[in-house]
Amino acid sequence: MSLEPKDEHDHKGWMQERDLTPVETTYLTVLMWLDKRLRIVDYLEILEDLYYKVNMQMPKSHTEQYNLDNKFWYWYPLYALGSFSTIAYVVAAISGALLGFYYSPATTGDPSTAYNSITFIMTELRFGFFLRSLHRWSAQVMVAAVFLHMLRVYFTGAYKEPRELNWIIGIVLISLTMVFGYTGYLLPWDQLAFWAGQIGVEMSLSIPLAGEWVAQLLFGGFTLSQSTLQRMYILHVFFLPFITTALIAIHIGIVWMQGIAEPH
Ligand code: HEM
Repeated sequence: MSLEPKDEHDHKGWMQERDLTPVETTYLTVLMWLDKRLRIVDYLEILEDLYYKVNMQMPKSHTEQYNLDNKFWYWYPLYALGSFSTIAYVVAAISGALLGFYYSPATTGDPSTAYNSITFIMTELRFGFFLRSLHRWSAQVMVAAVFLHMLRVYFTGAYKEPRELNWIIGIVLISLTMVFGYTGYLLPWDQLAFWAGQIGVEMSLSIPLAGEWVAQLLFGGFTLSQSTLQRMYILHVFFLPFITTALIAIHIGIVWMQGIAEPH
């Protein structure tokens, strides 16, 4: 027996004892290289353990619980609306990131640089009109899908105990979806955007006591300016994506842990 201290991250001896195919050798060499530096095997074990623990707590799906295997409940397609919202969100995020390569949030010039960048996307950029349309359509499909998903959850009673928390997260998500829509609507800095912005400022100013402060914070003043467009842009491409993505992940994570509510 060797008296050398055993290094549990050294798998070389074990590898030499077996005849391995070149694919296996490459896989194990990469795994060992990573494991020596990052101890990934230990972390993978922790993840595996967590996976089993979480699954042990998972309630049965309603198909299992109510033995619905061979029945088709004709409202089932409406249970896809949450996933449909997620897909619309991902399409909007990808097309939006690509639009970001060409859009510039500047109010300088007449027409403004922002408006000119939209004209460039629509008339000169190859497939630019397609990219912008994809972004607008996916955004609008998302608003509709989220709203219909909320109706589905309401009419199947899926908001009841123990799913209240996910209902509340849902309320925040539908609000964020609408703020996404509003901030995006202002970005082309055309007539529609400008007057929608004006309405936003006036609505903020109408809030009792905090009105002026809210207008200043959200619109950068009481009249529309470069500060307004810059704020809308950063909200649209930075704050909202981070918060919304995190909340969607938590929302779906909770559905995964709780299982779908049974039909009532
Ligand atoms: C960005 C918006 C949203 C996304 C991406 C989303 C995504 C999802 C997904 C994928 C599910 C799984 C079941 C299904 O698809 O029907 C789900 C379930 C659920 N959602 Fe949403 N959702 C959103 C907004 C909302 C809103 C606005 C509400 C309500 C105010 C809500 C409340 C719930 C509840 C309570 C469940 C559990 C339903 C059950 O167990 O049957 N969600 N959501």
